[in-house]
Amino acid sequence: FAARQVTSSVFGAAQRRAFSASAASLSKVAVLGAGGGIGQPLSLLLKLNPRVTELSLFDIRGAPGVAADVGHVNTKSVVTGYEPEQNGGIAAALKGAEIVLIPAGVPRKPGMTRDDLFNTNASIVRDLSKSVAEHCPNANILIISNPVNSTVPITAEVLKKAGVYNPKRLFGVTTLDVVRASRFISQHKGTDPANENIVVIGGHSGETIVPLLSQSGYNLEGQALADYVKRVQFGGDEVVQAKGGAGSATLSMAMAGARFAESLLKAAQGEKGVIEPSFVDSPLFKDQGVTYFSSNVELGPEGVEKIHPIGEVTAHEQKLIDVCVGQLKGNIEKGVKFVAENP
Ligand code: NAD
Ligand code: LMR
Repeated sequence: FAARQVTSSVFGAAQRRAFSASAASLSKVAVLGAGGGIGQPLSLLLKLNPRVTELSLFDIRGAPGVAADVGHVNTKSVVTGYEPEQNGGIAAALKGAEIVLIPAGVPRKPGMTRDDLFNTNASIVRDLSKSVAEHCPNANILIISNPVNSTVPITAEVLKKAGVYNPKRLFGVTTLDVVRASRFISQHKGTDPANENIVVIGGHSGETIVPLLSQSGYNLEGQALADYVKRVQFGGDEVVQAKGGAGSATLSMAMAGARFAESLLKAAQGEKGVIEPSFVDSPLFKDQGVTYFSSNVELGPEGVEKIHPIGEVTAHEQKLIDVCVGQLKGNIEKGVKFVAENP
């Protein structure tokens, strides 16, 4: 009952139905960075999901405490916490994992861009990806650590070097952009956000985030359109500013990460038509040198089942896409170069 109550207020109607469905198979889900601002609420939401049968929480510090705490929640899944030298470390944390969520790394402070996190987070993501390559090479890997536009290529390069890269199983989590875009339009129009699902494409930073409002039948113009696009593109900054140096979005991000994991589990358990936006190895802009791109992705038992085309866009949206593609190319190349020079 308690689990129902919490999920009711956090998720939409469709998700509540899925949450109350019985788990069809064993699903081990691992969180790397579970002691952090995102990791803790994400772990809680995963504990509330009956599709998760085993929850594996790893961090360089604090994960066993989070596991002990979350482990008291009265749902069936078994929760174990791991630190590098505890309970078998990362090898045991990852063994048999079907999904690995990675929110490990430092968050922004006011005045920083996501790219300013690169120097610290690139090596964290590289090293964790090496562990995934070694201990659960067939898992679905969900990258949350910023800058996502570069950390996803970093993981891909590590997996390629290890000979285990499967482009269908690597996802940059851009769900929060869609959550925000949907919430912000509902605030503007006075609609129910549960019924909004705005398409957002591109990447996950500033002008690489491109909401396609026209595809939901909305026709904002002039300053209203400019303000809306800016708010979606810089929604993360709104939270960074408000937290005043104490980090970036954690709670809304945990919800977005839990939603993505839930969608993957539904698809793995045979549900059809499960679609989430994600930053994946994509053919859509490869001819312009952009090898990863976020768009609506249909999920299946093998991970990415189908990458949806962009569809019709307005002239204004096309201009946003052009700016996005130019910036993304550099972000992706930076990640690839990092692994080449720092294997
Ligand atoms: P945080 O500092 O609160 O937590 C990060 C955690 O990672 C800490 O507990 C830390 O101990 C752990 N960690 C560091 N190095 C590690 C390693 N090698 N192995 C395991 N754990 C390690 O930060 P946060 O607020 O949780 O944010 C985490 C990351 O997520 C940041 O990079 C942030 O920018 C990003 N983020 C992404 C999105 C998105 O939409 N993709 C949204 C919000 C935040
Ligand atoms: C977000 O969009 O909230 C995250 O990427 C964190 C950030 O740095 O803004």
